[in-house]
Amino acid sequence: MPVTVIVGTQWGDEGKGKITDLLARNLDMVVRYQGGNNAGHTVVIGENTFKLHLIPSGIFYKNVTCIIGNGVVIDPAVLIGEIETLKEQGYDCSNLRISSQAHVILPYHKLLDKAQEERREAGRIGTTCRGIGPCYVDKFNRRGIRIEDLYNERAFREKLEWNVAEKKFQVENFYKMKADLDVEKIFEEYLSYAHAIRKMVVDNSSALIDEAVRSKKRILLEGAQGTMLDVDLGTYPFVTSSNPVAGGACTGAGIGPKNIDEVLGVVKAYVTRVGGGPFPTEIAGEIGDLLREKGKEYGSTTGRPRRCGWFDGVVMRHASRVNGLTSLAITKIDVLDQLDKINICTAYEYEGKKLKDFPSDLAKLEKCTPVYEEYPGWKQSLVDARAYSDLPNNARKYLERLADIAGAKITLISTGAERGQIIKV
Ligand code: GDP
Ligand code: IMO
Ligand code: MG
Repeated sequence: MPVTVIVGTQWGDEGKGKITDLLARNLDMVVRYQGGNNAGHTVVIGENTFKLHLIPSGIFYKNVTCIIGNGVVIDPAVLIGEIETLKEQGYDCSNLRISSQAHVILPYHKLLDKAQEERREAGRIGTTCRGIGPCYVDKFNRRGIRIEDLYNERAFREKLEWNVAEKKFQVENFYKMKADLDVEKIFEEYLSYAHAIRKMVVDNSSALIDEAVRSKKRILLEGAQGTMLDVDLGTYPFVTSSNPVAGGACTGAGIGPKNIDEVLGVVKAYVTRVGGGPFPTEIAGEIGDLLREKGKEYGSTTGRPRRCGWFDGVVMRHASRVNGLTSLAITKIDVLDQLDKINICTAYEYEGKKLKDFPSDLAKLEKCTPVYEEYPGWKQSLVDARAYSDLPNNARKYLERLADIAGAKITLISTGAERGQIIKV
């Protein structure tokens, strides 16, 4: 696997952090390619649980160069906090690099994110309120402030003055909220952040990645969020503001598609979603609660309870197609251990017909009902399984059906949150 993209196939929180950390042992480089601190990637090492929001999940291996790519949006205070936390635990982060082209989240982005969410009321997306959407808006509107701008005081001040004036007007006059935004205060605060991270910032991170590609280094491009949260290919508008899909790795890391050898889809054995928006296989009641408690399904970033549902094969097919998945890592199979019966959604029924492709029109999606195949549970703990042959027949049948729907081979099966709890197929 010289160059691999790791991508979430559902609505995020599939276990990308765990799988990235696991693979990192045999890697030279890990690059985060999009999103910001809306992400929360959990890595459990012995007694310690790390929740990474911006730093690539390869950081625990000193010989792995970890790059925050140009496609990421960075809240510098959060990044510095994360570095400090890791340092306290003995990880010095000397292997971390930050792209000078990454965009910076400023206080007005967070303010706008909150204001917009409040205003939306019924149609609330349920964003993480971290300023992600407004920051990407500025990027695409060519008003953004990039990491490199922080080292050019004149340009930074100019851009900041313009942006603060614009956002203050918007927040106060349209959203009718108080906008406590002081140019001088922000300017000084962000200069101090810039100073703190200066040694890690690299110009043209794509050249650094290219050098590794040419030297045949083993590189992992780590996506955040998931396919169904993709701004183009997800359940728009209930999505995030970037491209988590594999194609996003090309622009977010600055790498050509022909240099990517594998696309590994991380697939939770059931499905979760945090925030608003459609979720056809959502389970209300007892079984949904059981999955939430057993799977500890509470947001890594906001602590919100995650909505839980049956495995959705229509979503899986969609993810397989739009990402061009070449292999699968199935996670959290252990969470299903005690269920008598497990459902797999293989299609949606829409106006009496079976749909196999995920409908892009949400009005149509709303009228869809899942078609389920019922599988018998295995009723035994899988947490200690370390080989495929350790798995009971019913678990194998379930997994084989998932792979069959995805049209890709399973290479990893995760049976618990810890590093060692893995089956390599
Ligand atoms: P990410 O955002 O895709 O990295 O996923 P999160 O870290 O937000 O959520 C996954 C959660 O499941 C974390 O708490 C992980 O520690 C945990 N986890 C990962 N793999 C497994 C697994 O195979 N079994 C169980 N029980 N927990 C897992
Ligand atoms: P990881 O990388 C799950 C969701 C939010 C909300 C929507 C938009 O840990 O899988 P945003 O703040 O991005 O504008 O919110 O996207 N969301 C996530 N859900 N996992 C994530 O990241 C998410 N990042 C954003 O809950 O519904
Ligand atoms: Mg997460």
